[in-house]
Amino acid sequence: MFDNKSILITGGTGSFGKMLVRTILARYKPKRLIIFSRDELKQFEMQQIYNDPCMRYFIGDVRDANRLTMAMRGVDIVVHAAALKQVPAAEYNPMECIKTNIHGAENVIQAALLNQVKKVIALSTDKAANPINLYGATKLASDKLFVAANNIAGQDPTRFAVVRYGNVVGSRGSVVPFFQKLIDQGKHSLPITHAEMTRFWITLQQGVDFVLRNFERMKGGEIFVPKLPSVRITELAKAMAPELSHDIIGIRPGEKLHEVMCPADDSYHTFEFDDFFVIGPTINFNNRNNDFSRTAAGENGQAVAQGFEYNSRDNPDFLTIEQLMALNKQVVFE
Ligand SMILES: NC(=O)c1ccc[n+]([C@@H]2O[C@H](COP(=O)([O-])OP(=O)(O)OC[C@H]3O[C@@H](n4cnc5c(N)ncnc54)[C@H](OP(=O)(O)O)[C@@H]3O)[C@@H](O)[C@H]2O)c1
Repeated sequence: MFDNKSILITGGTGSFGKMLVRTILARYKPKRLIIFSRDELKQFEMQQIYNDPCMRYFIGDVRDANRLTMAMRGVDIVVHAAALKQVPAAEYNPMECIKTNIHGAENVIQAALLNQVKKVIALSTDKAANPINLYGATKLASDKLFVAANNIAGQDPTRFAVVRYGNVVGSRGSVVPFFQKLIDQGKHSLPITHAEMTRFWITLQQGVDFVLRNFERMKGGEIFVPKLPSVRITELAKAMAPELSHDIIGIRPGEKLHEVMCPADDSYHTFEFDDFFVIGPTINFNNRNNDFSRTAAGENGQAVAQGFEYNSRDNPDFLTIEQLMALNKQVVFE
């Protein structure tokens, strides 16, 4: 699937992008692996580590359609990971988030269509399901653009799908490195927003593996959701610092008590597979098989019950403190 292919990763210098590059270089022999992002310093630092002859580093902004179109010449596969993703920053600078996450998505789609790219997967987030903050709303709009793009493709070969998952353990600005910093500073307590708060939990490597696998599964138009364990934030704090007390500081604006990945309102077009869900499109694609209960890789799914919601509170799978401690040990903070 990836050998001898030209692959472009928007946001290739981010947490996800770097793990994706590491994984692709370890497992496959791509023809070209192109990193597309804005900041030259992040690219320079990444080049010190990843400098395989197949690698190309392109400075560019996803808001710049022409640059994207140039960068995608001869590209077979695109992973769209570039995004603004900090919830408070998005609330404060809404148009900046809209320009990168929505206009950027539109530009990625147009550049992929113009260059007859074969497959595009865009990364989404649980915050895009029933969004309550602007970041989530822009990612939902982006998801909708990528799904609908399969119609615009017409007779062209380009296919688009979305991967949606939850909190990445240890990613920049997330709770694990935040707690670790406070512990290292010798604080006597950890701030907890709400005693009942739960989150889905995924490692970067699991996220990368899921994205790569879905290139084989995708027909175009799916939102792929992995089945993940949930975590209670109080358990996380206990796992990281059993001796510290907890300060309940209250839920923050734009934050949910529990996250959703497959909303109940999407249940009538959601299919459950062994270890993932597919949310099928709400639109029919012209001249195509619109059955999303079977993947292109031949896996069969079942329609979920009407009203079924996949959320971090009702998830049957919760990590224990011991499992959390083991998982945290594998995580490299950035
Ligand atoms: N981290 C999580 O917990 C999580 C959970 C679910 C989903 N996701 C999704 O996963 C994706 C990757 O997240 P991440 O954790 O890897 O984020 P990250 O570490 O913040 O990396 C973001 C990447 O996007 C680039 N970028 C930002 N704005 C850009 C623009 N306008 N044009 C081109 N490149 C741009 C950044 O580089 P420059 O700043 O140099 O441009 C960087 O390479 C995002 O789509 C995010 O929504 C993340």
